[in-house]
Amino acid sequence: MATRSFRRRHAPRRRDHDARGQDGGRDGRRGGRRGSRAGVAPKTLERYLSRAGLCSRSEARELIAAGRVSVAGRTERSAGRWIDEEIAEVCVDGKSIRPARPLHLLLNKPKDCLTTAFDPQGRRTVYGLLESVRDWVVPVGRLDRDTTGLLLLTNDTALADAVTAPSSHLPKTYVVKSTTLLADEQLASLARGVNLDDGPTEPAKVRRLRDGDHRTFFEITITEGRNRQVRRMLEAVGSGVLELRRTAIGPLRLEGLSLGKHRRLTAGELQELRSALRAGGAKSPKRR
Ligand code: URA
Repeated sequence: MATRSFRRRHAPRRRDHDARGQDGGRDGRRGGRRGSRAGVAPKTLERYLSRAGLCSRSEARELIAAGRVSVAGRTERSAGRWIDEEIAEVCVDGKSIRPARPLHLLLNKPKDCLTTAFDPQGRRTVYGLLESVRDWVVPVGRLDRDTTGLLLLTNDTALADAVTAPSSHLPKTYVVKSTTLLADEQLASLARGVNLDDGPTEPAKVRRLRDGDHRTFFEITITEGRNRQVRRMLEAVGSGVLELRRTAIGPLRLEGLSLGKHRRLTAGELQELRSALRAGGAKSPKRR
């Protein structure tokens, strides 16, 4: 009995053993598929990065080849290295891909700034504005290079998927400065829905704010997130976009956030966002 209890106290704990993988590599380096814990299959490094929502697999290979990815503190140049996602410490540009805590940020995106992690042409991206953020976050949906305003970024991939799912119907509000004065009938068409090459748009809320000499300022709220949607809608009614600023995503508002600045979502905002997703019919993301 005494021996059994000694063994129990001094035997290596099962979890520690499992966490190292059966082949002993701290992060599954030599473990291959056998090094995983039950239920979580190891992934190659390139797949791990793409599944984290960071980039495509081919972009991941480029990142790895460029020496921007480290595993357990050492630069890793093999895209096919096996990663046990339960324990791996993977960083891109020194930022942790698998942070301990979920992080949700709001950024007021400026013009001339891409909503992408990697631009082969080396243009300015939103990540240049997030240098103080230690964990890697991904943009939830995209804004065009010249669109300004509210951008949600997170490492919470379940929430990001729920927000961008077409079924979420999460309203997004934009303030538009058009290239021409818009007649009431043009605004009414935008509200009813216009025909785009990828199908008719769903009804939108449209509100004229004011007219300038040759421009109209108006607010439009859409519940879809198609590529360049607002710009294409304006073209469909014979006008165009001079300036486009996103002011709201569901319950999240831009107010109080200066251009180029970011802040964390408050607990209240996160709760409201989750409720809005539930109300819109989105599959509720799991809390992390
Ligand atoms: N619609 C657009 O046309 N562009 C954006 O960036 C966002 C919505």
